[in-house]
Amino acid sequence: MSKGRCKTAILISGSGSNLQSFIDRVDSGEIDLELAVVFSNRPDAYGLQRAQQAGIATACIEHAPFADRETFDRAVAAKLDEWQPELLILAGFMRILSPWFVKHYEGRVLNIHPALLPAYPGLDTHQRVLDAGETWHGSSVHFVTEELDGGPCILQGKLAVDRQETAEQLCARVQAIEHQIYPQAADWFGKGRLQFKDGCAWLDGNRLDKPVVQAFGNVTPF
Ligand code: GAR
Repeated sequence: MSKGRCKTAILISGSGSNLQSFIDRVDSGEIDLELAVVFSNRPDAYGLQRAQQAGIATACIEHAPFADRETFDRAVAAKLDEWQPELLILAGFMRILSPWFVKHYEGRVLNIHPALLPAYPGLDTHQRVLDAGETWHGSSVHFVTEELDGGPCILQGKLAVDRQETAEQLCARVQAIEHQIYPQAADWFGKGRLQFKDGCAWLDGNRLDKPVVQAFGNVTPF
């Protein structure tokens, strides 16, 4: 059942190619979200320019001057709440969130992580996957909880690793998948199909004990 256009805040720290995929899919009508604000902790994040070009409000607070994580997070939330977001999309937002922030937006924060969670949480996932000789790699959309990269998984996009490729090439292929699965999962949330309840992800009223997995063949870089 649709609950109307979902007010969405997108948080970034860098290039914002995932942000761009949301902008493009909202523009084309493929997904139905209201992109209310794009927030960055870095003033030089290219994603801020993407947002401005798309006519989306932007906000930026640098984290460095803040004494601790929660003080910064409270300032971020005070800023974001000016737009009363119903959904927060972490799109390359390279900050660990305080328990206070997670609680403040409980069940309303999605993250995308470039690995098939629970495998390869943390940084440098593409090189680690290549070094380990993995057959499969991909990306995961999950609800954010206090556990880093540990909240319930919703949707994964999966590809076969090419042993000849570099980490940069693998990253580009994974990001092309991200640009498809992340707007899709967010749209489920916006339409009221996806919820966080009892510490689990629920899709269309069914608890997701495992994420929905989509396999991708020849995905060309975005
Ligand atoms: C994305 O690939 C995302 O999976 C990753 O940062 C990239 C941001 O790219 N996120 C993390 O590593 C979070 N742990 P973008 O700025 O071009 O969207």
